[in-house]
Amino acid sequence: MGRLFFVGGNWKCNGTSEDVKKIVSTLNGGQIPSKDVVEIVVSPPFVFIPSVKSELKPEFQIAAQNCWVKKGGAFTGEISAEMLVNLGIPWVIIGHSERRALMNESNEFVGEKVAYALSQGLKVIACVGETLEERDAGTTMKVVAAQTKAIADKISSWDNVVLAYEPVWAIGTGKVATPAQAQEVHAELRKWLETNTKAEVAASTRIIYGGSVNGGNCKELAGQKDLDGFLVGGASLKPEFIDIIKAAE
Ligand code: G3P
Repeated sequence: MGRLFFVGGNWKCNGTSEDVKKIVSTLNGGQIPSKDVVEIVVSPPFVFIPSVKSELKPEFQIAAQNCWVKKGGAFTGEISAEMLVNLGIPWVIIGHSERRALMNESNEFVGEKVAYALSQGLKVIACVGETLEERDAGTTMKVVAAQTKAIADKISSWDNVVLAYEPVWAIGTGKVATPAQAQEVHAELRKWLETNTKAEVAASTRIIYGGSVNGGNCKELAGQKDLDGFLVGGASLKPEFIDIIKAAE
């Protein structure tokens, strides 16, 4: 069975309730391919999730941008996986490079979070990616393999995981990876999965690309053999997100 193209929109820490209404209305009005062509997930900030969930067409699923690493309780400011499940949120993004860098989330912590979220029934968009220094030093694959291994070590099934390759130097910079650069890392990641998990996992796990994806560059990226979709930041707040979804066709 082929891998269903996946497009995620990570709204990050952006927007007012008025902005959110506009985005929802744009998405609801867009002509999008059918569910057997593309799976679409948008990830609003926590506080907007309930309204987005109730107003957005069911073709769009919801992801939280983070969740706590274990069962909820005395963890001020955190949102637990149980709460997301309770609200009927199917997806969560874990290990985004902004959290790794700004909140010091280590590879091990990210692996634990992925495992806990999966254990509660959430599906996970797990992010990996190298910095510019790491790329320049020739260590891209070493870095993303270590990040992926920390996840693989903690989970028993990849069925509900989408792996997002997001080179840090391409995020929010307008410097998109070339299709060849993206394909190279995606192919290596797939090979890593084949060697370190199972051939079926490598064949079925969707590996999506994130980093300055827009309406202009999405089509060529989508044509790469091992690229199964996108995790979009800035452009997911704009009408061109619909064009990016259409790259699935
Ligand atoms: O998670 C999406 C992401 O970090 C890419 O952001 O703004 O470069 O599309 P952007």
